Amino acid sequence: MADTKVYRASTTAPVNIAVVKYWGKRDTKLNLPTNSSLSVTLSQSDLRTLTTASCSALFPASEGDSLLLNGAPSDVSGARTQACFRELRARRASLEAADPSLPKLSTLPLRLVSENNFPTAAGLASSAAGFAAFVRAIADLYELPASPSELSLIARQGSGSACRSLFGGYVAWRMGAQENGGDSTADQVAEASHWPEMRALILVASAAKKGVSSTSGMQQTVATSGLFKERIATVVPANMAAMEKAIAERDFEVFGEVTMRDSNSFHATCADTYPPIFYMNDVSRAAIRAVEAINAAAGRTVAAYTFDAGPNAVVYYLEKDTEAVVGSFYHVLGGVDGWKTAAIGGLKPLLALDEGV
Ligand code: DP6
Repeated sequence: MADTKVYRASTTAPVNIAVVKYWGKRDTKLNLPTNSSLSVTLSQSDLRTLTTASCSALFPASEGDSLLLNGAPSDVSGARTQACFRELRARRASLEAADPSLPKLSTLPLRLVSENNFPTAAGLASSAAGFAAFVRAIADLYELPASPSELSLIARQGSGSACRSLFGGYVAWRMGAQENGGDSTADQVAEASHWPEMRALILVASAAKKGVSSTSGMQQTVATSGLFKERIATVVPANMAAMEKAIAERDFEVFGEVTMRDSNSFHATCADTYPPIFYMNDVSRAAIRAVEAINAAAGRTVAAYTFDAGPNAVVYYLEKDTEAVVGSFYHVLGGVDGWKTAAIGGLKPLLALDEGV
């Protein structure tokens, strides 16, 4: 009898924000990085992608695989998405070959439906949570006996930073040494409960889509920046070691300083790219100055900024310093034209600029 069942699995994956940045690929096909990186996974109740994967012999084969992202059809023909489908199907096919009683899901078209619980207007890169949820939803649908580390290897091929979103807490992506990328995976450095006082404040400087994508920006940096060579040879290895130690010891002073230095180093290599790439704007720089003022007033590092490939700041701080950090931001930036306070999608605290937020 024909199998008319609809097989389905749902999962969520959180957003992560790096404190030691991934910037540069040594292999664009396998998406292998030029350096290791380390991130903090943000709370799922605040920021996450929910993805449902389904497959059925009832789905017309002519429609092929599909993805509905925040209600709109999204292209799945890109090489990175195709690599994820291929890796996951190959693993399912080998399970089916080993056990002929299993339904033959690996040959059926896949339908994916994905939603972010944070507005696109927050200007946050969603590819990390997106690819992590995408990969885990299909892995669950296929009942793959894959560890988060093995799934990180697949998600990495979708988007590098996605490999870190398969874990909560503090997560390292080890660049690895193997040519086939078999050891370029993520692992958990510490659980969130290890340092439960950690908080993140997102400052939206602009919700506009970034000018130069991470994928193309980092390749321009690899090709043209001399400073970048220094960053991957000495700066990042030192930052990784210092950061892991700071997390183990719950030392916010060091955690904060390394976070800010690494963000500065990454943006310096962007400025050293030819032609230069600028992700930060005047509002971003005002946020840096505000963090400096907050730390100077406190007489210690209580707040640490970091910027990805865009102008929005993420500021890490500890719960006990909420008043000093969040209160000061209202005070300092309240006077800067365009800033206003807002809560986005339940995400609090958050300060936002006017643009559509
Ligand atoms: C600045 O993971 O988006 O956010 O692998 O090309 O998809 P691709 O790049 P992506 O780059 C993220 C860059 C970053 C730093 C980081 O998250 O580590």
